Amino acid sequence: MGGMSYVELAEAAHGQMGACKACPICDGRACKNHIPGPGAKGTGMVAIRNYEAWQSVMVHMDTIHEPFVPDTSVTLFDRQLSLPVMVGPLGDVNLHYGPKYTMDSYNDVMLRAAAGAGTLGWTGDGLAASLHEGACRAISGLDGCGICTIKPWSRDVVRDKLKLALAARPAAVAMDIDGAGLPFLKGQQPPAGTKGVSQLREIAKACHAADTPFVLKGIMTERGAEKALKAGADGIVVSNHGGRVQDGVEATATVLPEIARAVGEELIVLVDGGIRTGIDVFRALALGASAVLMCRPFVVAMYGGGERGVRDYLAQLRGELSNTMEMCGAETVADITDGMVSW
Ligand SMILES: Cc1cc2nc3c(=O)[nH]c(=O)nc-3n(C[C@H](O)[C@H](O)[C@H](O)COP(=O)(O)O)c2cc1C
Repeated sequence: MGGMSYVELAEAAHGQMGACKACPICDGRACKNHIPGPGAKGTGMVAIRNYEAWQSVMVHMDTIHEPFVPDTSVTLFDRQLSLPVMVGPLGDVNLHYGPKYTMDSYNDVMLRAAAGAGTLGWTGDGLAASLHEGACRAISGLDGCGICTIKPWSRDVVRDKLKLALAARPAAVAMDIDGAGLPFLKGQQPPAGTKGVSQLREIAKACHAADTPFVLKGIMTERGAEKALKAGADGIVVSNHGGRVQDGVEATATVLPEIARAVGEELIVLVDGGIRTGIDVFRALALGASAVLMCRPFVVAMYGGGERGVRDYLAQLRGELSNTMEMCGAETVADITDGMVSW
């Protein structure tokens, strides 16, 4: 039996997701600036820009090569993943998408589906302490098959949350360092804000003492990437939080090549924002990423088809990536180079 396509999953999810309209293409237009909800800040244009920037990257076809079965696997954080796509972090599913899932049931299903498909899910964080506690419990219950993301809270709160996270033995710990811009965190308790290199270095050190990689999510400039490197991070996610933290910023696809050129030898460079198909994954890899994260479409897949829905969507992405690799002459993910696209 074939699985459900993304369009079928979106149809099944329609009407159950609050401000999310479960569109057949998740391009940021319908949810625009609805926060709470899955929209973007201010005009809502940044999420749309993220999506459109990938569409302007053209892939170069070359089918004169011996036949091969493309290998979509990658090694990341010492783990072999079946495809270079991970499920991105989502904090507070109830606040943004309504009551169908609790954060715990969302995380349980999402992490299990990702692990079952041979990849990793990332968990999110929010004002209620229970969000992160539940995420750590779920990752621990899956033998560490997941990545915890902690918001840039005050030093004491980060210390406690980091302790919980490291005890779960996750594949990595991340901090969404751009979280300071989230409208629903402003003026709340615990406080969240920006962080300097020295405090980030302490966090990286604590992670390394527990043999756990540390990733900074929300890097949009070469300058930011150099500071992440100085702070001792092992990886970065080129991300603008799907447009939710600052209006008027560049698309992630636009800044990825220069950031990858600057730090790609020293840091694992990941990217997210508007990546929706296996072709988009190919584009991101060609522009310098080692793997991608996708967030909003996986919520739709889960609302439309539960654990099976997430796995079906991952299978669709893998198929699309594999087809594009065959059509462009890349037998392995390492063969996908910047010469295979133009923009
Ligand atoms: C409703 C919602 C909640 C999110 N919560 C988190 C979070 O807790 N931590 C985090 O690092 N990113 C969070 N993100 C950002 C996503 O992980 C991702 O960076 C962003 O949505 C861009 O990817 P996408 O276009 O594939 O959705 C959230 C995004 C949405 C839409």
